[in-house]
Amino acid sequence: MTITAAARLAGVLGWPVAHSRSPRLHGHWIARHGLDAAYLPLPVRQERFEAAVRALVDLGFAGANVTLPHKEAAFALCDTRTARAERAGAVNTLVFREGRIEGDCTDGWGFVRALGDVDVTRGPAVVLGAGGAARAVAAALLDEGCPQVVVVNRSRARAEALAAALGAGVAVAEHPPLAGCALLVNATSRGMLGQPPLDLDLAALPRGAAVADIVYVPLETPLLAAARARGLRAVNGLGMLLHQARGGFEAWFGVRPEVDEELRRVVAEDIARR
Ligand SMILES: NC(=O)c1ccc[n+]([C@@H]2O[C@H](COP(=O)([O-])OP(=O)(O)OC[C@H]3O[C@@H](n4cnc5c(N)ncnc54)[C@H](OP(=O)(O)O)[C@@H]3O)[C@@H](O)[C@H]2O)c1
Repeated sequence: MTITAAARLAGVLGWPVAHSRSPRLHGHWIARHGLDAAYLPLPVRQERFEAAVRALVDLGFAGANVTLPHKEAAFALCDTRTARAERAGAVNTLVFREGRIEGDCTDGWGFVRALGDVDVTRGPAVVLGAGGAARAVAAALLDEGCPQVVVVNRSRARAEALAAALGAGVAVAEHPPLAGCALLVNATSRGMLGQPPLDLDLAALPRGAAVADIVYVPLETPLLAAARARGLRAVNGLGMLLHQARGGFEAWFGVRPEVDEELRRVVAEDIARR
């Protein structure tokens, strides 16, 4: 990589950040488009987050991605936020313009794009989980015309809070109502490397239902394997990870990047290595 003193700079703020695939992903696009730009891992502890963001503004960065545990802190410090960031209650993309900090949340949009031709208007969706990712996914599903989102979470109070934040269209249930469900989404961390798999029998899901898992380490979770075994459409977490990155890249570097097979292969190989 060769950059000049005029290079556009961005990066990913998180703690820890060594697991992030974003530097590989953005680095691929920067090389692909031959840009005078760099995208860096930016490990920042929680108590230093705001100071670090303000330092990036002073250093002339174009912006940054934000990952765990900073998405809510990022939301709080933005001067302006997009409507979808307001709905998600979190910010994963910061854009710095003339000293001002703009916040966006592209996770939900990325999730919906990753679904490809799965028609979310066809019937109710069941979302497992009520954390930051679940809220972004639920909001995006409703915004895309999903008739109802039923949220099921270990801590019911968190599911109730999500439903209250998103309003009409969201219901809370104790157990996943699989019969009649058109789309089942795992937005918990179960099934992730080092976590127990989801303990869920998919037998009651209708034949035309789709199953999406936003966990991406590993890409093939036990939930997706069970869905495939039943002949159901299964969508892994890779597409969401790739599509959510596009908005930031375009805002910082001025090029709308594409999610293609080469990018999928590069990032999937990176995931498989660690
Ligand atoms: N593909 C992508 O681009 C993408 C983007 C963002 C996130 N993700 C993935 O999405 C998952 C959730 O991320 P997040 O940011 O929403 O995290 P989070 O805010 O910490 O939420 C975690 C969720 O998982 C639930 N959970 C955790 N351990 C559980 C267990 N043992 N049994 C049942 N439920 C459990 C939590 O339930 P409680 O509320 O009861 O604690 C909560 O609903 C992670 O695996 C993350 O890697 C993927």
